[in-house]
Amino acid sequence: MTDSLTVRDNRTGLEYDVPILDGAIKAADLGKIKAGDDTPGLAVYDPGFVNTASCRSSVTYIDGEKGILEYRGFPIEQLAEKSSFLEVAYLLINGALPTKAEYDAWVHEITYHTFVHENVKSFMQGFRYDAHPMGMLMASVGALSTFYPDARNISDADNRHMQIVRMIAKMPTLGAWAFRHAQGKPYVYPDNDLGYTANFLSMLFKMSESKFEADERLVRALDVLFILHADHEQNCSTNAVRSVGSSQVDPYSAVAAGVGALYGPLHGGANEAVLRMLRRIGSKENIPSFIEGVKNGNEKLMGFGHRVYKNFDPRATIIKKACDDVFEVTGVNPLLEIAKELEKIALEDEYFIKRKLYPNVDFYSGLIYEAFQFPPEMFTVLFAIGRTPGWLAQWSELVQDKEQKIARPKQIYTGPRTLDFTPASERWA
Ligand code: CMC
Repeated sequence: MTDSLTVRDNRTGLEYDVPILDGAIKAADLGKIKAGDDTPGLAVYDPGFVNTASCRSSVTYIDGEKGILEYRGFPIEQLAEKSSFLEVAYLLINGALPTKAEYDAWVHEITYHTFVHENVKSFMQGFRYDAHPMGMLMASVGALSTFYPDARNISDADNRHMQIVRMIAKMPTLGAWAFRHAQGKPYVYPDNDLGYTANFLSMLFKMSESKFEADERLVRALDVLFILHADHEQNCSTNAVRSVGSSQVDPYSAVAAGVGALYGPLHGGANEAVLRMLRRIGSKENIPSFIEGVKNGNEKLMGFGHRVYKNFDPRATIIKKACDDVFEVTGVNPLLEIAKELEKIALEDEYFIKRKLYPNVDFYSGLIYEAFQFPPEMFTVLFAIGRTPGWLAQWSELVQDKEQKIARPKQIYTGPRTLDFTPASERWA
């Protein structure tokens, strides 16, 4: 058996042998199939890239049918239980676990780049009082490219490393300041005596105390949430980072595009939507009529369904456990009962079973975030902070991949052709 596909073009009667490599054929090979010399080659029509591989990647492995997620080969369950977010970030970026010396140097670098230029603070203060923190984060991470113009030198490995460190270090600062802005509270500078996640909580919640000390259990729970969100192969925002990065722009601009993509309710914005949905449902009695509305196509059950996971989302299982740990400190979120009942009813319903719709990472994460006293607008910011190492690992892989080209999909043109243009003055006369 040879690893190839034999295609017969019934328009011409010609047969083609298309090689299969790694379970895929090259779209360019299909492009050689033509109905005539002056007709375009065969293209693949795939809105949403449902069955198109855009790159080779060694960052993250997912088996959606089996519910497997691995970063650089390590199962997410083990990383969530035994690692830390900064170690996972190192792993994603560098492809291997750090030695003690490498880890210490990495933590030191990240810790000492948490401050941002004072002008970043002034322009963030210029946003409207009710600006959505994701809009602020997207704008401010993009603006960092103007503070580090050397970042456009993407072919230099040391330079890439510098920008990667800066971005992982500064995202919590930008995210926390966006949060403080909405609350009308003074921005809190980083405390470099604290670890990555503890410092983030300090920048979010510190008031007049000389040192903010978060409950260790909450620090750990948030660190785990960051780990769970750190990468997810070619999802919408990563594809945005890669697509924009393929123009060889600096990584701040590429990551700003990722933040924009993540902002949408079908992607990172889903956890915010879940909370709003649970609040709207209000009580367990209203669940059946809500489910009916979903089945009639009036709305979606937010936090359910995934393009890749068709049995369960392994991140959702870990988060459900983290819920218990957090609620032990903060007290139970009353919406949890509605969420659990909703999940139970949906998982027994033919509509959801048939479509293989299961809770995804966002179904429970919002409940935890709310227990931290984050308003829903902040949820996606937390997702973005966690996803930053993944975006950067994928971006770094992209810029070193000799097979990559500027992202430029084809289209199937459906509009009119060769019309005659009449100037406005004649048309309107
Ligand atoms: N509620 C009700 N029906 C749904 C849902 C849902 N949440 N998700 C999918 N369906 C239905 C959909 O209407 C379709 O039905 P039919 O075959 O009758 O037309 C079928 O299931 C297949 O759905 P699809 O839209 O073709 O699936 P997709 O792979 O294009 O979309 C998704 C994946 C995540 C965008 C979608 O499931 C969804 O909108 N879910 C709600 C939003 C959400 O929770 N997003 C977070 C994703 S996980 C975090 C992340 O990585 O960003």
